[in-house]
Amino acid sequence: MKIKNICCIGAGYVGGPTMAVIAQKCPDIKVTVVDLNEARIAAWNDVDFGKLPVYEPGLDEVVKEARGRNLFFSTDVDKAIEESEMIFISVNTPTKMYGAGKGMAADLKYIELCARQIARVAKSDKIVVEKSTLPVRTAEAIKSILDNTGNGVNFQILSNPEFLAEGTAVTDLHNPDRVLIGGNDAEAIQSLLEVYANWVPKDRILTTNVWSSELSKLTANAFLAQRVSSINAISELCEKTEADVNEVARAIGMDSRIGSKFLKASVGFGGSCFQKDILNLVYIAKSYGLNEVADYWEQVVIMNDHQKHRFSKNIVQTLYNTVSGKRIAMLGWAFKKDTNDTRESAAITVAQDLIAEQANVVVYDPKVSHDQIKFDLEGIEDKIKVETNPYEACNNAHAIAILTEWDEFKTYDWQKIYDSMSKPAFVFDGRNLLDKQKVKEIGFVYSAVGS
Ligand code: NAD
Ligand code: UGA
Repeated sequence: MKIKNICCIGAGYVGGPTMAVIAQKCPDIKVTVVDLNEARIAAWNDVDFGKLPVYEPGLDEVVKEARGRNLFFSTDVDKAIEESEMIFISVNTPTKMYGAGKGMAADLKYIELCARQIARVAKSDKIVVEKSTLPVRTAEAIKSILDNTGNGVNFQILSNPEFLAEGTAVTDLHNPDRVLIGGNDAEAIQSLLEVYANWVPKDRILTTNVWSSELSKLTANAFLAQRVSSINAISELCEKTEADVNEVARAIGMDSRIGSKFLKASVGFGGSCFQKDILNLVYIAKSYGLNEVADYWEQVVIMNDHQKHRFSKNIVQTLYNTVSGKRIAMLGWAFKKDTNDTRESAAITVAQDLIAEQANVVVYDPKVSHDQIKFDLEGIEDKIKVETNPYEACNNAHAIAILTEWDEFKTYDWQKIYDSMSKPAFVFDGRNLLDKQKVKEIGFVYSAVGS
């Protein structure tokens, strides 16, 4: 079937950019992105493209090109479902915070609500595409809901997980390493394949059975996060032995079997997915009684927690075992550069630790709003100050902690910052961002992860 109308439920970090690119590359397909969140939809429709709810380099250009032509954002979910042949489900699948599997399993209530709504509304055959990251075998549950509560129309389920990374979403979508489509129905697979074939070379579109596709997404994130935890584990050993983690990463990364990407030691990985997806994998393994498999993967998250707390502990210890009443400037709040997303950001953990030690924490981030930072620290939000000028944030500080690898931090006048700080002036570089030699020459006491 040639697809003419696509609906995407969920206008978040995945639904928004993904559908914007499909609309850009497929001008003959009408793409409607729907969400219950009225403010979010209003922001996607804002005349000021700087106010889109998701900050991603290049995204404003894509939206500018397609919005109003064949890309629409709406809160009318029923209408969009009804008029589309293909419906993507791109809603959030957070870690469940209640009942069985609390703190580990994926909470699938939003997925089930979508399935029930599609079943209720659909009066013609639909292809339902899982875009959200889901536990393996979720398609079975979706199919059961659709078939048992629907109006007798035919539903095909495909799994089409998204591999984009935030901060590079547009280039990842324009030029994906691969597009994965899992399904059991050749015709449905072909329909989705033809959508992507508008810009993705066919040899990069991979088709599998639906369970392999669902599990590949969790596995990919687990492998990526594992690399970060692996290099972070080595970073701690480097700090004890005078080895330098950057040199170690370079040395091992030149082995083509290991590869050089994703080996940057850091204050710990953040983002909405790595932890959630690994915990989900752990829960699935446990539910099949595979305890060794579960323990193996859980260690990736345990190591990451250790890395985040270790960073704050090092600050306290270096500042003569007390930060009480001391001003500490945190540069960066987003979980990585080039995004305004703060979910599970290491900065949140570090701020909580420092506040518990009674430090006066001041934050500067170039893209994260004041309100978001306060929201992330709900309950202790009055203990933090947010500055819109980095020099103000650092003024009179005892220490600076770099939490996000924003490029602009490298371009600051570090001499000016040094002059304005309490002495000795400490820098804790959670991203190995600054030129060690230069900052030391200025007079900073500089401490980086893994060296
Ligand atoms: P998000 O929270 O930014 O967006 C989800 C949106 O779905 C929200 O705006 C919410 O209001 C909406 N929603 C929830 N239930 C709804 C319903 N019943 N009807 C209409 N709208 C509803 O989440 P996200 O970051 O876009 O992630 C979505 C999924 O994609 C998750 O499963 C995630 O694991 C996966 N994923 C995320 C990324 C990423 O980089 N963020 C990358 C790959 C995969
Ligand atoms: C990650 C994956 O890279 C995507 O393929 C996947 O689609 C997505 O999760 C998802 O499912 O949500 P994302 O979390 O947006 O993407 O960003 P990453 O670039 O993977 O970074 C994740 C975290 O790891 C960040 O905090 C980053 O700073 C950290 N990281 C990454 C390191 O500390 N070191 C590295 O070498 C790489």
